[in-house]
Amino acid sequence: METVVSGIRSTGNLHLGNYFGAVRNFINMQRENSCYFFIADYHALTTHPNPDNLHNSIKQVLAEYLACGIDPDIATIFVQSDVPEVAELYLLLNMNAYVGELERTASFKEKIRKHPDNINAGLLTYPVLMAADIIIHRAAKVPVGKDQEQHLEMTRRFARRFNTMYGVNYFPEPEAYNFGKQLVKIPGLDGTGKMGKSEGNGIFLADTPQEIRKKVMRAVTDSGPATTGEEPSEPVKNLFTIMETVSDKSTTDYFREKFASREIRYGDMKKQLAEDIIKITEPIRENINSILANREYLAATVKRGAEKARESASKTVHEVREIIGYREV
Ligand code: TRP
Repeated sequence: METVVSGIRSTGNLHLGNYFGAVRNFINMQRENSCYFFIADYHALTTHPNPDNLHNSIKQVLAEYLACGIDPDIATIFVQSDVPEVAELYLLLNMNAYVGELERTASFKEKIRKHPDNINAGLLTYPVLMAADIIIHRAAKVPVGKDQEQHLEMTRRFARRFNTMYGVNYFPEPEAYNFGKQLVKIPGLDGTGKMGKSEGNGIFLADTPQEIRKKVMRAVTDSGPATTGEEPSEPVKNLFTIMETVSDKSTTDYFREKFASREIRYGDMKKQLAEDIIKITEPIRENINSILANREYLAATVKRGAEKARESASKTVHEVREIIGYREV
């Protein structure tokens, strides 16, 4: 059993892209590994959320991941700020993180470009906090998307640097968790690119059936195939990709044939697609809502998660303090 750490953005309400792209696979991952899932609510402060928004988004995202099948009886699911040991390890790692390398991080440079009015030190040291999240459980694997690869690379560098500096072999160098071929890339409904929260082209697991129908009916298409044998345009191809993921094969085949014979009516296809998305997401949405309504369950779950996470985290911090030279006098 390997230790896996997975950080979840507290603003990261789950959409179909997240679900089919990764979260669906967490169910198996948690059975085969010792998993730590946490809501990254220290990281969230870099954008200065107001207290109510912060609180509500933590609860919402927690409920969404639980609704998708993260099982607190198998995995450890917790809220980052419930584990102050992370903050201590972050402080210690900061002493060996160089401003130059932090300034060169792609995500930091992008933040500077997009939000020149809020370039705080937390943003600069974001990768150090992320490294602390991971190595505090001495994780071997981290499920990350492309956008987090550089952060994971930096985590390895900080772990290695600590080991070299103190002549120990204490922290493993974590690698990306590989889901193999199971990963599906879900495009957005706006014609180009993948589904994303900030792109505004997504269907969220918490969306109501009415919202889903409305979004799908508005999806970008084209004026239909002009000649026989032509390839669908990108927006239409994207709808087929989503359909392949959520609908029966016979349904997708039916619309592919209609496209090929130039009899396709995108309106009909979208109606079918919307209903199939609803069929898949409805049970999850109901789950989200019942979890959110059950305050005792949520409170007990994060409490248990924090206890388990702190057990592992405090052991590491204790050992790190020893290694560094903070010893009993
Ligand atoms: N940076 C990650 C993201 O934006 C979230 C995150 C924080 C994380 N700490 C982590 C992911 C530790 C994996 C491991 O999605």
